[in-house]
Amino acid sequence: MTGKELMEIAIKARERAYVPYSNYKVGAALLDREGRVFSGCNIENAAYGPTNCAERTAIFKAVSEGSTQFSAIAVVADSSEAVTPCGVCRQVMAEFFDPDTIIYLGNLDGKIVETTLEKLLPHAFTSKDLTMEGRH
Ligand code: THU
Repeated sequence: MTGKELMEIAIKARERAYVPYSNYKVGAALLDREGRVFSGCNIENAAYGPTNCAERTAIFKAVSEGSTQFSAIAVVADSSEAVTPCGVCRQVMAEFFDPDTIIYLGNLDGKIVETTLEKLLPHAFTSKDLTMEGRH
């Protein structure tokens, strides 16, 4: 699947965003290593804090369905520049993505920027940091 095709799925998922507070719709489409695609949108909440970003919706859907190995994710919003994931989503990506996992950032004008997790979150804190034997 091409980045453009994955982005098209993210654009469709964006339409399902539940955004009564920000009115800022975001869509995501996550491609796993078996070729399955999990879409996501942002889901807001009156208490604001429980809001879930589109990227995390897609990742949590996939993990809850037994898929944990991914090759790419596309994210899109109606922004002048390609949308960029928040820090919380980058950390969640770091839990499941390899550093070279491809991340396509887009907007509705057709802009697509290709990047990687390593570029978005260098020096990520991951499970490897919890395994220093004897050191606490
Ligand atoms: N949001 C996402 O869903 N993904 C991003 O990459 C950036 C921010 C959402 C959270 C909130 O619902 C709205 O966009 C405004 O911050």
